[in-house]
Amino acid sequence: MTTRTLYLVACAAVPVRRVDVGIRAAQAAGWDVCLILTPSAYRWATEDAEGEIERLGKLTGHPVRYQYKLPSQEDVLPPPDAVLVVPLTANTLNKWAAGISDTLALGLITEGIGLGLPMVAVAHWSEGQGRHPAVGRSVETLRGAGVRVFLPDGGNGGCPWQAAVDALPGGGRAG
Ligand SMILES: Cc1cc2nc3c(=O)[nH]c(=O)nc-3n(C[C@H](O)[C@H](O)[C@H](O)COP(=O)(O)O)c2cc1C
Repeated sequence: MTTRTLYLVACAAVPVRRVDVGIRAAQAAGWDVCLILTPSAYRWATEDAEGEIERLGKLTGHPVRYQYKLPSQEDVLPPPDAVLVVPLTANTLNKWAAGISDTLALGLITEGIGLGLPMVAVAHWSEGQGRHPAVGRSVETLRGAGVRVFLPDGGNGGCPWQAAVDALPGGGRAG
């Protein structure tokens, strides 16, 4: 059986500090997980938690990516079969919906729409951020493009990593 690859794209909202939980949940469902952080999320992981990038790289078995490679460099990750965007910030949401690709994370998820990849996103933002008129419009744009977008539930229940994996095609099972 060929292994299927999941790109887990994580933005700079508090749940990213437990992205290992999401990685393990996806691995348990049979996915080969590659982690891509936004530059802000990468900064949190490097400056706020020493050794975290190395730990996450070891957990996935792939380098943790956060910026575009140079044209002369080889791709270091296998191509994705599906993409999870968890947590999704308001910033990345609005740029994604507008088709902006000025970070590697945005490049992958904007292109993912064009390629028709299965994509699931779990948003995480404050009530105030969520009330900005751009947010609702962006959510509708992405849903219209086929992305499954889950909105913040307003509770303190933490990030629904398992539900995000389960929402992938085939009930989340890679095989
Ligand atoms: C402690 C902290 C918590 C944050 N939590 C959120 C959040 O839950 N949702 C959100 O949209 N932005 C949050 N932000 C703001 C984002 O980190 C900021 O908009 C950043 O530019 C997002 O970059 P990214 O979308 O490229 O990851 C938070 C910032 C800080 C410092």
